[in-house]
Amino acid sequence: MTSPNASDYSLLAPGPVNLHPEVRKALALPMIHHRTPEFDKILKRVLTNIKTVFQTQEDVYLLTATGSGGMEALLVNTLSPGDKVLAIVSGKFGERWADMAKTYGAIVTIINVPWGEAVKVSDVAAHLKANPDTRAVLCQACETSTAVAHPIKELAQVIDGYADTLFLVDAITALGAYPLPMDEWKIDGLVAGSQKAFMLPTGMAFISFSKKAWKFIENAKFPRYYFDVRKEKKANGAGETFYSSNVAIIRALDVVLGLIATQGLDKLFHTIHRRAEVTRIFAQQLGFTLYAQAPSDSVTALTVPPQMDGQKIRLHLEEVHNITIMGGQDQAKGKIIRVGHMGYIQDQEMLRLLECLGLTLRHFDSECISLEQISSVVDEARKWLEQNP
Ligand SMILES: Cc1ncc(COP(=O)(O)O)c(C=O)c1O
Repeated sequence: MTSPNASDYSLLAPGPVNLHPEVRKALALPMIHHRTPEFDKILKRVLTNIKTVFQTQEDVYLLTATGSGGMEALLVNTLSPGDKVLAIVSGKFGERWADMAKTYGAIVTIINVPWGEAVKVSDVAAHLKANPDTRAVLCQACETSTAVAHPIKELAQVIDGYADTLFLVDAITALGAYPLPMDEWKIDGLVAGSQKAFMLPTGMAFISFSKKAWKFIENAKFPRYYFDVRKEKKANGAGETFYSSNVAIIRALDVVLGLIATQGLDKLFHTIHRRAEVTRIFAQQLGFTLYAQAPSDSVTALTVPPQMDGQKIRLHLEEVHNITIMGGQDQAKGKIIRVGHMGYIQDQEMLRLLECLGLTLRHFDSECISLEQISSVVDEARKWLEQNP
């Protein structure tokens, strides 16, 4: 997908992302009421088509909340105080989910994964063997703070062996960016965020539950009101949303789902993979190294050259070159920069990013790379993109 504004401003963060022009048009439409036949039709289409991205036969629910609200919805609908939960914590978002589960009264055991690494499936298998009464395993598909992709398929295979254990997956920076077929892999709860691969503004979370999870939902005792998915299920069954619908974003989501249907999910995954690849290959030639040992296609974390400050690089790129990427958080602050690959991005933007990254390195240390080297990297990247459509 390409941007007409490549020369103006590039939002290359791991969410929010550049919006497609058709999405921007949809967002600019006059408001309509959500209890109207016109909106009912849109909602019906969206509730059907979004299942394609989740790769599920189950219903998908549209929550007006950021991704974190969707994470909370997965917990409150399936768990009860005193339930044993295993949280895989490999960065900021894993920490958040573990905290949420603790806040509601779960007994949370944490597998701490060093930043930049993926969880070892054998560690999860060993924990479940020793604690078969674990009610849920929580994991990010992509831990955005480190750009690591966890082995969701393999984890799901292990967890599937436990009839009373759910696998809840935060796919906020993953769903729509690379394959996570919910039904085939047997994921029990899946949450996505509007501002990531769905290429929409921030403000909605999309969730779905497996049949196995639905058995938990009736008995779950965590307090739930706004996020009680049973209300939404009933309302959706009657062709509406329980609360006021987020008309603007749902209308734009309808457009995005249409675009995805036109190009196909595989093509979308390929497009994002290609952007990740070109970034990974050529940023290394500029002098960065890859931070994630199991890199995600949705976002790339680049360790900045020694003596350089990732925060300053990020700021310079924004102030001078009009490109927004993200820096590192917590222990990775200053050490890495993070480049998102989701949304509406054209090849020219990727090349400009590489060039401006090179120029930014030179701004801080004119010895580290020459202008000739930068243009040769950009030329090679251009050729690579041409040879790998
Ligand atoms: C993996 C992951 N989980 C959760 C969140 C939180 O989402 P939100 O900021 O929309 O609440 C994010 C946001 O970047 C994320 O990347």
